[in-house]
Amino acid sequence: MGYSETRSEGKVGAGLSMKSPYYTAVGKNNELISLYLEDCTGGMREKLQPYSVDVVVTSPPYNIGVRYNSYHDQMPRESYLHWMGDVGEELKRVLSDTGSFFLNIGSKPSDPWIPFEVAQELRKHFILQNVIHWIKSVAISKQDVGNYPHMSGDIAVGHYKPIAGQRFLHDCHEYIFHFTKSGQVALDRLAVGVPYQDKSNIGRWHSAKQDLRCRGNTWFIPYETIRDRQNQRPHPSTFPLGLPEMCIKLHGVNQTRLVLDPFIGIGSTALACLSLGVSCVGFDIDTKYLEVASQRIDELLKGKKPDIPPWISPVQAPLFIKEKRQKPKRSSNSIS
Ligand SMILES: C[S@@+](CC[C@H](N)C(=O)[O-])C[C@H]1O[C@@H](n2cnc3c(N)ncnc32)[C@H](O)[C@@H]1O
Repeated sequence: MGYSETRSEGKVGAGLSMKSPYYTAVGKNNELISLYLEDCTGGMREKLQPYSVDVVVTSPPYNIGVRYNSYHDQMPRESYLHWMGDVGEELKRVLSDTGSFFLNIGSKPSDPWIPFEVAQELRKHFILQNVIHWIKSVAISKQDVGNYPHMSGDIAVGHYKPIAGQRFLHDCHEYIFHFTKSGQVALDRLAVGVPYQDKSNIGRWHSAKQDLRCRGNTWFIPYETIRDRQNQRPHPSTFPLGLPEMCIKLHGVNQTRLVLDPFIGIGSTALACLSLGVSCVGFDIDTKYLEVASQRIDELLKGKKPDIPPWISPVQAPLFIKEKRQKPKRSSNSIS
């Protein structure tokens, strides 16, 4: 990808301190990636200035007993919700007034209320501006779509979590709650737009000046197919790079000085930020995960990853490349 590989020496910007991050790297637009090995609430309080973050993209532990390397994902419900509320309060402090907070959260079939209860907790601090459904797998039958171009038969695409037994369906989706402070934040909808199927729509409406329409709130973002989980995705609960990438693009790359992921795991949000040329700060309490995150970032900096993520359709690819080449406007970052 041709990023500079200088570490710890990039254009840090006013207020970005190098106070013992676990790892730092600098991308080709001088974007700074800083990963901190510490609890996110304390870390944010200590390192991030008020209003310094434009986009938060994150996926917290869901409290469903996932086997993390060190974190124990099974608290009493009240304590968990209280903790999520504390995290939300801190996020509100660091988020700019026009910022976006994208919270990816799922559940387990026997306990489907978790995402809603967490959203309710965060309602104390934010307005829920959009609810996006992250679709991991979908089946579309030819019969339902009729004479659709390029569709010669039934399709079933993506990866899902199979659920045994008769009671529950396979788990094929999660939520992305889009919180803002005002509920009025303007988004760059066409940055994640889709081409019109019926080209006669172009120019017909005032809003349809180009061959792109708003994607809507169902996002099909499949996981990459992997053969060796331990080596290729050594973390029990990641999101694909396409998820943070789409969230940041929806908020607007040019409006984004700094992205925060308080639960960064193996660094998916940081990789998305490098692809888009924006700075990122992340926290995790697990050395093993941050070590993997560092390796993934190093590999991307060395150009080992494909330029275009697999979730980008061939139709969107030229657009993606064009957007990536635009240098985002940047004002100073402000991590104290
Ligand atoms: C759902 S995972 C996030 C995975 C990440 N989105 C990715 O794609 O790699 C949640 C992460 O939160 C971390 N974690 C748990 N408690 C934490 C805390 N208090 N502060 C920061 N990170 C924490 C866990 O170690 C785990 O990696």
